[in-house]
Amino acid sequence: MTLLTVRRDGEIAVVTLDNPPVNAISEAVRKELFEMVGQIDADPGLRAAVLICAGRTFLAGADVREFGKPPVEPHLPDVVDRIEAAEKPWVAAIHGAALGGGFEIAMGCRFRVAVESARVGLPEVTLGVIPGASGTVRTPRLAGVEAAVELVTSGRPLSAAKAQKAGLLDAVVSGDLESGAVAFARKALGADLPMPVSKRPLEQMPEEFWQGARKTASKAGHQAPLRALDSICFATEHGFSEAMAHERETFLDLRGSDEAAALRHVFFAERAAPKPAALKGIEPRPFKSVGVIGGGTMGAGIAGACREAGMEIILIERDAEAVARGLDNVGKIFDGAVKRGKISEEGRAERMAGVRGSSDYAELAQVDLVIEAVFEEIGVKRAVFAELGRVCRSDALLATNTSYLDPRAIAEGLPNPERFIGLHFFSPAHIMKLLEIVPTPDTAPDVLATGFALGRALNKMPVQAGICEGFIGNRILKRYRAEAEGLVLQGVAISEIDAAMRDYGFRMGPFEAQDLGGLDIAFLQREGARAAGREVAETLGDVLVRAGRKGQKTAGGWYDYAEGDRTPQPSAAVSELLGERISGSLDLPRSEIAERLVGAMAAEGQAILDEGIAQAPQDIDLVEVHGYGFPRWKGGPMFAVAAS
Ligand code: NAI
Repeated sequence: MTLLTVRRDGEIAVVTLDNPPVNAISEAVRKELFEMVGQIDADPGLRAAVLICAGRTFLAGADVREFGKPPVEPHLPDVVDRIEAAEKPWVAAIHGAALGGGFEIAMGCRFRVAVESARVGLPEVTLGVIPGASGTVRTPRLAGVEAAVELVTSGRPLSAAKAQKAGLLDAVVSGDLESGAVAFARKALGADLPMPVSKRPLEQMPEEFWQGARKTASKAGHQAPLRALDSICFATEHGFSEAMAHERETFLDLRGSDEAAALRHVFFAERAAPKPAALKGIEPRPFKSVGVIGGGTMGAGIAGACREAGMEIILIERDAEAVARGLDNVGKIFDGAVKRGKISEEGRAERMAGVRGSSDYAELAQVDLVIEAVFEEIGVKRAVFAELGRVCRSDALLATNTSYLDPRAIAEGLPNPERFIGLHFFSPAHIMKLLEIVPTPDTAPDVLATGFALGRALNKMPVQAGICEGFIGNRILKRYRAEAEGLVLQGVAISEIDAAMRDYGFRMGPFEAQDLGGLDIAFLQREGARAAGREVAETLGDVLVRAGRKGQKTAGGWYDYAEGDRTPQPSAAVSELLGERISGSLDLPRSEIAERLVGAMAAEGQAILDEGIAQAPQDIDLVEVHGYGFPRWKGGPMFAVAAS
């Protein structure tokens, strides 16, 4: 044995697995565990075993290197069965996370104990599969059908306290886990042992329960949660081994599905993105204290996100009144967190105590990082950076949150331009995961590395983008909208286009999304470009805005809205306004509409790659999935088109 070591504590064997970094369940781990059960059973001096892990976590799940590859023996279900069938009972001692196969191994054990900070869960559906080693069969026997359905179909892990309440854990220990687990095992040996999980009875649920659960599971948009639910349902109606065979079959079927491949693609892209290989070994600069310029929509969100990550914030606005408004905006973000039960009132007060407002730039003399989020006007932004150049430390990072302006123009004349960078957050900035990081040709490598380190600290998905209008995301959005308008011009109904994209997996189609956000934002940006002398073609959106139709806020945009109702209604007024421009009566199936629009996104993505604006196709996919609602289970436009 090279990964497992055994220490004797009286009649208890403490079996420690050490397979860094996360004790993933590799082929070798499965083999050694399988054999270890026999060795312990054969030792007359032993009466029980505690399974514990070295390093930062319990078995955190399958080995990602084996993802998508044909399974190799011994298969995990056999290992779990072997542990459960042991003559000497096993106790799983959990710290960190027991996820997926890791939790299935824990369910093979006769008991499960964990430290308070541990999490347990079956996240397989997030990778487009279902648990493959009894997760859908043992969990309902261990915790009841309802808890099993929630755990398996949502894929969301539970805290130790919640898991204990649900019956997934027998005990939560405070203090040292190993001695706590050994003490637990010793005590358990003094009483009757509970039945192995696979032998426990299963409750039957009424049909209404399954109907409700199906409705919830279908909201995910892809098939894995529904198939997981079916597998649990099957388990309630059949014997253990029949249910196991059914689960395995479903697992293997889904493993080869397009959705699982897409979800794996996004999973791997997400793992790689926050730590680009090119920045390896480059030390980021500190960002303990942060100045945020502008306390509007974006500034308040950025301040809230940075404060939540523990940074000290100074919010700069134009005058005392605007300062108060800006602080109020930040306060509202934390109010929302209190309302949702995420933080307490004291937590809110503690956070707000770390956000200071001022209209005096001199307050920024010592901060590590400044993020500018003032009006999208080059003159205003330049004036801000001129001021920052005067008052800030020469090594303080200076960042702009501009959406469309050229960061090089914003930074013109700035002393020490190597510390300047674009950090493009998405609205609402305290929620949206995407962060486009836009270096200029002057940006120093450690400043770029700091952008990524900040992204990680804020729990965001940082993606590097080059300089062009709209960077990666907004540039693709523009092309997507243009393609959608192109279809309208050929006679495809606006509502059909939206429905096609909803069918594809977006929460909203391109036109209803514009109605929600307001058509005027992109209009003003185009008008700005026109005013600057650039040639920008008139869009259908421009026609609507000029007619006063800015979206839901004006009771109409691409659709009409009845008062107090957000349901889009096809609009006769829009047909009239656009009427003479529409020159066809194209009738496309929805799948083809989606194919064309996703194809346009991918074509723009390819141009972005060719120009070096994006570093890799998967970065473009991450931008779309995390910033623009592209369905994760389609993998992003680059993946979707390459796979089709
Ligand atoms: P906003 O209008 O809500 O807020 C701008 C704030 O900046 C106002 O509170 C204003 O008083 C303040 N301000 C203006 N000049 C100032 C100065 N000289 N010193 C200090 N404060 C000043 O605008 P929003 O939406 O927050 O946008 C800000 C920036 O973020 C823009 O560059 C915009 O393009 C960018 N952005 C906006 C997104 C959005 O969805 N709203 C998304 C991503 C970026």
